[in-house]
Amino acid sequence: MTYNNSDTSDGFLPESEVKFIHGKPVGPPSRATLMVKHIGQLVTMRGPSPRVGPALNDLGIIEDAGIAVAGDRILAIGPSDEVEGRVPVAPQCELIDAKGGLVTPGFVDSHTHPVFNMTREKEFALRLQGKSYMDIAGADGGIRASVRDLRASGEETLKAELRKRLDRMLAHGTTTVEAKSGYGLSTKSELMSLETIKYWNERHPIEIIPTFLGAHEVPDEHRAKREDYIKILIEEMIPEVAKQNLARFCDVFCEEGVFTIAESERILEAAGKYGLKYKLHADELKSSGGAQLAVKLGAVSADHLIAVSSAGIKALSSSKTVATLLPGTSYSLGLDKYAPARELISRGGIVALATDCNPGSNYSESMAMMVSFACLHYRMTPAEALSAATVNGAAALGLAGERGQLMEGRHADFVVWDAHDYREIPYHYGVNLVSSVVKAGKLVVSHDEK
Ligand code: NIG
Ligand code: FE
Repeated sequence: MTYNNSDTSDGFLPESEVKFIHGKPVGPPSRATLMVKHIGQLVTMRGPSPRVGPALNDLGIIEDAGIAVAGDRILAIGPSDEVEGRVPVAPQCELIDAKGGLVTPGFVDSHTHPVFNMTREKEFALRLQGKSYMDIAGADGGIRASVRDLRASGEETLKAELRKRLDRMLAHGTTTVEAKSGYGLSTKSELMSLETIKYWNERHPIEIIPTFLGAHEVPDEHRAKREDYIKILIEEMIPEVAKQNLARFCDVFCEEGVFTIAESERILEAAGKYGLKYKLHADELKSSGGAQLAVKLGAVSADHLIAVSSAGIKALSSSKTVATLLPGTSYSLGLDKYAPARELISRGGIVALATDCNPGSNYSESMAMMVSFACLHYRMTPAEALSAATVNGAAALGLAGERGQLMEGRHADFVVWDAHDYREIPYHYGVNLVSSVVKAGKLVVSHDEK
């Protein structure tokens, strides 16, 4: 695999400044800086964003297609003869030969917890012996074990660990990822976690949307008086995170034994006063009304929903709050229960898929695996799952119409696959079928011939 982070501009035109109106380039004609030829099956996801109901199956496929990119945007996309015939090419234009294979939008992984150091495979083994996630969290493990470790590890270790995860995500086709803090749980270590995210967002090809999750758990030192911690969250952490512009979203782990509905509402409303948008870990293991709270507060997404009630499903289905489903979490916790994806879809809910990549309940960076789990455990069609992992993932980050679709004028974020048909992604699972990744118009991953 080669990993290319260099500037490929040819010095001829300021392609990054090509202007688009209604998706059409305006101003002087631009030249392509990167072309993809010989695409057998191109999944564009053109059309509505987000997708609901039957539209989830509409992938906007073009056969025998090409893509021309200028700077970070798509200049032309369509049947190959049209694209190649009408686009002037810059002298040092990069060429990708898709060899008759599949191209899709890059995955948008809208829920991850990647800022941690210590892994917790011991807990995985304990669960196989019959201990539950909450048993382990109540003993010496769980989120608080990760917190003790993060506080003891330096910023450099954390940076190196996060970078490895971002590299793996990109190599597996994720071009935009949400990343939460939440293993620091003190002002100092939460800020350090968010600064680590910012550090890589400025240097790594993957695009990172940061979320403040100081309300992931009550840390050891405040267990006796949890109200003190909530005060610190509201009066100290949130204002500082907002002042330093370190997060776009605020999230809360609203769950029996973690934060109650009333506490979650107080914390989110405090964050709203500082301009942060809302996400909520809702009804993950037990139903507590988290989905209804997310809808009531106008949260951008309600996530997990393994145990969501019928009232919660109803509330979500008639709202704009995205139901972000994380099938890897049921899988890795060894649960029999999976979120009710079919019911959410048939009632018109907006469903997105994400990894939940974290050291406790699901350690995987692979969105392709989540697409596979969604097909087999949620009974989503391969097309529904792919829509949920791209165009609807963008909606879960407030980026509907900006990411997750391949159209003229849109960001050039896509994956060339060592596959011919999109259904191979869930079908041929557990191996990396990504051949190349283009992020913001640059070739950033190129796997060698297999
Ligand atoms: O999304 N639910 C809360 N947070 C994670 C698990 C975090 C951990 O166990 O470290 C989740 O499942
Ligand atoms: Fe999570």
